[in-house]
Amino acid sequence: MYHPPERIKFKPDPGPWPTGQQAAESLLFTPVRLGPVELEQRTWVPAMVPWRATDEGYVTPEILDWYERLASGRPGGLVVEATGIREIPSGPLLRIGDDRFIPGLSELVEAVRRGSNGHTRLFIQVIDFLRIRRRPTAERFFREYLAITDRHHDALGAPGLSDEQLRERLLAMSEEQIEAVLTPRELENLRIGYRERVTDMHLRHIRELPEKLPGLFASAAVRARQAGFDGVELHFAHAYTMASFMSALNDREDGYGGAQHHRARLPLEVFRAVRSAVGEDFAVGCRYLADECVPGGSGETDGVYFGTAFARAGMDFLSLSRGGKFDDAKQPKVGWAAYPYTGPSGYECMPSYISDAAGPFGRNLEAVRGIRRAIRDAGQATPVVAAGGIHGFQQAESILRAGAADLIGAARQSLADPDWFLKMRLGRGNEVRTCEYTNYCEGLDTKHKQVTCKLWDRLDLDEPGVRLSRDGKRRLTAPAWR
Ligand SMILES: Cc1cc2nc3c(=O)[nH]c(=O)nc-3n(C[C@H](O)[C@H](O)[C@H](O)COP(=O)(O)O)c2cc1C
Ligand code: SF4
Repeated sequence: MYHPPERIKFKPDPGPWPTGQQAAESLLFTPVRLGPVELEQRTWVPAMVPWRATDEGYVTPEILDWYERLASGRPGGLVVEATGIREIPSGPLLRIGDDRFIPGLSELVEAVRRGSNGHTRLFIQVIDFLRIRRRPTAERFFREYLAITDRHHDALGAPGLSDEQLRERLLAMSEEQIEAVLTPRELENLRIGYRERVTDMHLRHIRELPEKLPGLFASAAVRARQAGFDGVELHFAHAYTMASFMSALNDREDGYGGAQHHRARLPLEVFRAVRSAVGEDFAVGCRYLADECVPGGSGETDGVYFGTAFARAGMDFLSLSRGGKFDDAKQPKVGWAAYPYTGPSGYECMPSYISDAAGPFGRNLEAVRGIRRAIRDAGQATPVVAAGGIHGFQQAESILRAGAADLIGAARQSLADPDWFLKMRLGRGNEVRTCEYTNYCEGLDTKHKQVTCKLWDRLDLDEPGVRLSRDGKRRLTAPAWR
């Protein structure tokens, strides 16, 4: 887990909680319209992957418990985790790339209706991602993966060697010698693991992404509608395919890279395909980055450009995140794949309590405010969701009153206490379990373990019917609030 070098420690401080009367008079608990869908309140649980689907991507009883529990705090909107739109295995992450996933997803919708007593509107985040391999051992890399070319033979100055002999020579070399022989990309494949990029134009399936993705996203959205969701959130954020098309680092020369309007082209084509497949009475929005937070990547001017373009195109909501890129991720151990939330940009995405002077609470707000203002200046009323370290009533209310955002997203605070919105609404905020932003949950996510919160996962383990993690040491959902 990355921490800024300053290592200043911040203590979460939710401030005073509202009485029931103050909550009733607040902006936070007023309705908001996201295109065709009305939310009862401006509270929002952003997508969080809990690592509970089957290896084939189906909904499990553990998934149903997780979302029913999150729904019991009755947030205005709840977004189901990043769900894969293709027919490719993705471990215990949900999938929506075929009609066979619809029955399980319908059960999930039912669980949320049940948990929230029909009060919460439900969205599903739909994602495409490119291939990534685990970091190989040097033996495996040199003996199997490295494609030997004349350049390698020339670099070693040994033209008579067979490819097999050359592989063995490379394997015996020092780090310094290897650096002189391999290209930067080959070195990355050795040290981090192979990872496809949207700029790999030598690969046919990468060249063809702009033709394929609109249809794949549209079919996924149609399935979401059939399963009973209120809308979809197109995942245009973090380290994945669509965000990579939008990145300032995307220099494709086929009209889908380079200038801002070229980088906005595929997301807009995806949106139009989705809209025409699901119609006007199903909410379609996206999550994208206010700032990529990597050198040379997209910054706030790109965020403003994309937000205005998406609003003009007719998106029903825009949820803004920050960072979370592969570019600066930590080197994984051998046998593990790189994870995009382990470097400085990952810190920007999920800031923890050990921070720099800016602190972990509301790091994205200035950028969100600027994007929302530009959208309003362009004459568009598209609602904007903010997230990142929000854990108190006054903090949330002042963000809304200042016009920095229209909805308040809280991921980890809702994991720490799924009932916190309801507690605030009922004037019982003093019972809220406040997130400590230690990122224990994110550590589990990084290790692909079932995500839980350290504030409650060891409580009442002998409670009848409680579901435990695979090692039997942790409960998988927060104890009920009585
Ligand atoms: C365990 C975990 C899983 C997450 N999974 C997703 C995800 O699937 N999609 C996404 O857009 N963001 C994901 N996030 C990021 C959150 O939605 C949110 O943007 C981030 O945690 C900052 O908000 P917070 O401070 O309220 O937690 C995840 C965060 C956590 C802690
Ligand atoms: S483990 Fe719990 S307290 Fe710690 S950051 Fe995650 S949600 Fe917050």
